[in-house]
Amino acid sequence: MIETWRRHYNHVRPHSSLKDLTPIEFKTRYASTNPGPSPSSNWSEDPWAGQIYERFHLWDGLMLKAFFNTFGREEPALIFGTWQLGGAYRFGGKPDGLGGMTRSTAQALLERAYDSGIRVFDTADIYGLGTVESLLSRLPGDAFVVTKFGNRGTPETRCKDFSRAYLVECLQRSSERLSRVPDLVLMHNPPLDFDFAQLAALEIDRLRDDGLVKGFGVSCTTISQASVALENDSVQAIEVNFNLLDRHAESSLFPRADKLKKDVLLRAPFCSGFLTDRFLERDYGFDPNDRRSTLSAEDRAWRIMAVRKLNRELEVGSITEVALRFCLSFSKFVVFGCRNVDQLEANLRHARLGALDEAALQRIRKIDFGTNPCW
Ligand SMILES: NC(=O)c1ccc[n+]([C@@H]2O[C@H](COP(=O)([O-])OP(=O)(O)OC[C@H]3O[C@@H](n4cnc5c(N)ncnc54)[C@H](OP(=O)(O)O)[C@@H]3O)[C@@H](O)[C@H]2O)c1
Repeated sequence: MIETWRRHYNHVRPHSSLKDLTPIEFKTRYASTNPGPSPSSNWSEDPWAGQIYERFHLWDGLMLKAFFNTFGREEPALIFGTWQLGGAYRFGGKPDGLGGMTRSTAQALLERAYDSGIRVFDTADIYGLGTVESLLSRLPGDAFVVTKFGNRGTPETRCKDFSRAYLVECLQRSSERLSRVPDLVLMHNPPLDFDFAQLAALEIDRLRDDGLVKGFGVSCTTISQASVALENDSVQAIEVNFNLLDRHAESSLFPRADKLKKDVLLRAPFCSGFLTDRFLERDYGFDPNDRRSTLSAEDRAWRIMAVRKLNRELEVGSITEVALRFCLSFSKFVVFGCRNVDQLEANLRHARLGALDEAALQRIRKIDFGTNPCW
């Protein structure tokens, strides 16, 4: 069915953005004047500079979409997470990145994500200490960028700052690096005792009138904090952890967000790499420059126990596949990360299989792992 739809999209349906041609007709007519990038193209040659390519992509069947209230439009439900693209870096005296990554891999990942139809990209001002935002400046104009602010610091020091003055400073810096005003800016994990009544002092409406900000929201570390943030009028979207091993948001947060018509971005569908098939057979160590190497032994052991239990009870072909499809089953946006193009391709294949059916969701809901003592 997906193949039929894809063929219709590419070969039959005219697109107003492509001069009322089908993508295939458009490609045939204009390829000789501007071929656009090949999958192996090098970003340093600026493959997205051509106006024609900017309007043209072959949709490859990423079917699941969700309505983004903040942007007022439907978008593919997969959001490309860019933390990995910052490579290894230190912030606040500790490794803060997710291990090494070359610039060419980062560029190839972004290109492939965009070409697959993904249009929303999640980042933060501190990912790669600003380098990831600069990389995202190459995205075509129809992509949306979600960024975050509130971490003041250097490789050796760090503190939280959610003042209006720092927000304005961060917005100016992010807009410069991104070469655009971010579409959605999130407070980056405020402290658990943060009083959301203080948001009035940020004067978000005034910043919006001044063209410094479009959407505004909060990235939260706990569901109870997210539930409070959601009620604030300035908050249009929240980002929280959600995956097979951390399902707290489902019963309380989702229904309330739906009622308020606010966006919920679900991050870390693979529980930061633990909900993948590689932990089923053996333990797997993280590089010392990877933030995950600093997880406590207790936290790490719980995650590995839980993914193995899940695998035994579900008896599925691939935990990685089920992990992603589980998160895609709630008509919300799913922010996933990946390290290389093979992982991205596998995730696109999994996503194309769509949401899990109700019977599978019921089986999953019955599995009890207890709670991670560190969460
Ligand atoms: N607001 C916040 O505070 C916050 C916090 C966390 C994340 N985020 C955002 O959410 C995004 C996703 O979070 P995340 O990357 O931590 O968690 P994740 O998406 O659960 O895990 C990503 C990791 O899973 C592994 N993986 C992904 N696809 C795979 C595949 N097909 N096969 C095998 N392994 C695979 C890779 O691990 P390896 O690298 O080990 O190969 C990858 O780095 C981030 O990029 C970031 O944009 C935001």
